[in-house]
Amino acid sequence: MDYNRKTMKTDKSVYACQSCGFQSPKWLGRCPDCGTWNSLLEETFSPSIKAHPWEESPGRKSLPQPLKEISSQGEQRHLIGIDELDRVLGGGVVPGSAILVGGDPGIGKSTLVLQILDRLAGLGHKSLYISGEESVQQIKMRGERLGAGESQVLVVSETSLEAIFKILKEFQPRFVAVDSIQTVYSGEMSSAPGSVSQVREAAGRLMVWAKKSDTSLFLIGHVTKEGIIAGPRVLEHMVDTVLYFEGERGHAYRILRAVKNRFGSTNEIGVFEMKDSGLEEVRDPSQLFLSERPLNVPGSVVVPSLEGSRPILVELQALVSQTNFGVPRRTAMGVDHNRVSLLVAVLEKKAGLNLLNQDIFLNVAGGIRIDEPAVDLGITAALAGSFLDRPISAQTVLFGEVGLTGEIRAVSQSLLRVKEAQKLGFTRCLLPKNNLEQAGKTPAMELIGIGSLQDCLGILF
Ligand code: TYD
Ligand code: MG
Repeated sequence: MDYNRKTMKTDKSVYACQSCGFQSPKWLGRCPDCGTWNSLLEETFSPSIKAHPWEESPGRKSLPQPLKEISSQGEQRHLIGIDELDRVLGGGVVPGSAILVGGDPGIGKSTLVLQILDRLAGLGHKSLYISGEESVQQIKMRGERLGAGESQVLVVSETSLEAIFKILKEFQPRFVAVDSIQTVYSGEMSSAPGSVSQVREAAGRLMVWAKKSDTSLFLIGHVTKEGIIAGPRVLEHMVDTVLYFEGERGHAYRILRAVKNRFGSTNEIGVFEMKDSGLEEVRDPSQLFLSERPLNVPGSVVVPSLEGSRPILVELQALVSQTNFGVPRRTAMGVDHNRVSLLVAVLEKKAGLNLLNQDIFLNVAGGIRIDEPAVDLGITAALAGSFLDRPISAQTVLFGEVGLTGEIRAVSQSLLRVKEAQKLGFTRCLLPKNNLEQAGKTPAMELIGIGSLQDCLGILF
């Protein structure tokens, strides 16, 4: 019985995983929920705080009603005027929605969000930028670089959740950005700022406010080394839209990807270039990704890949060279590593290329990542080209999924892919023969339907 009393006393503290929010009464070396090592921290257990009266906005009361009586055109969206972004959001910002913008430090999250608010303010919407990381002078300096020095955006440097709610209540903005959600803390909770419970509490209460007052909320979240949003992985479930801002260090372009979107497709990407005057949209990414392409060099091929609704031509580069000692290396950047291993095996078995004692490197030029099977044929062609030391003509593109028996399977949207290639001056396209019909016919583009990997290599080399 003594034991019971003891646990009741110590119950006040709880160990919370800083990555996913899992809670345990005792410390564990590894979170059983998300598998992260050494992520449990002691936090004081505090029951959720009730919303303050001043958090209660006058908003509507919701009553159940039959689906058929709900008008469907109700949802009105605000276009920001940055096409790349509006498309990723699924056609603008939905009032009352919460959007999480994640990304590595220094990738340009603050810049992007300030540019968004500046646009919205320019359209006459009251916008508020709350920074917990920079002073208002620093934000002003950034604004001046972005050409937003004269902007109407309201700016405040604040980290206390209670103070933020007072500001929200007083100024009633339509669009709010919190940079970053990890810096916001509630003085009524004893957990340290940045801990999972603080971040969850802050985001949760801000979102309730946003929903009730039809305010759109942008939450900026940092990402840890492992590529997850630190602490607030829990946030991904709560918010309506999760956008990741990606890019390689040293490259100027940045890719905005929707990984979750309640109001649109999640496959869409937006391409931006970081310039001295902020982020600029790239309307023709194919041109950008092919700008430094070497012509008629073994191991380089161009693939029309589809990102969401939009085709992008990317260059795949392969380097296959004899292993001098040890186990052959297999390195793939920008494409799935396992997929490459599989295609190497198919090339070995079905096309008779002896790749067993070869080091293999594969890269998607420009630092973009592609995750669709339609690039299979491109990968195999690049590998075979490098192995055989034969170039593929610079006017050729190819796409198709490669099956385990070496058959070439049809992929979606072949017409879009062919058109994009044509637009950039390509004159020959190898594609799955089952796609030939949909791909349309034009005199400017020679379309070659192929049924197997052997056919393809026979035509190319
Ligand atoms: P920032 O938006 O502060 O990144 P984050 O909020 O994701 O940490 O962007 C930081 C980088 O962007 C910094 O290295 C400088 C660069 N930058 C430009 O190149 N041009 C610009 O106009 C601005 C504002 C930033
Ligand atoms: Mg920042």
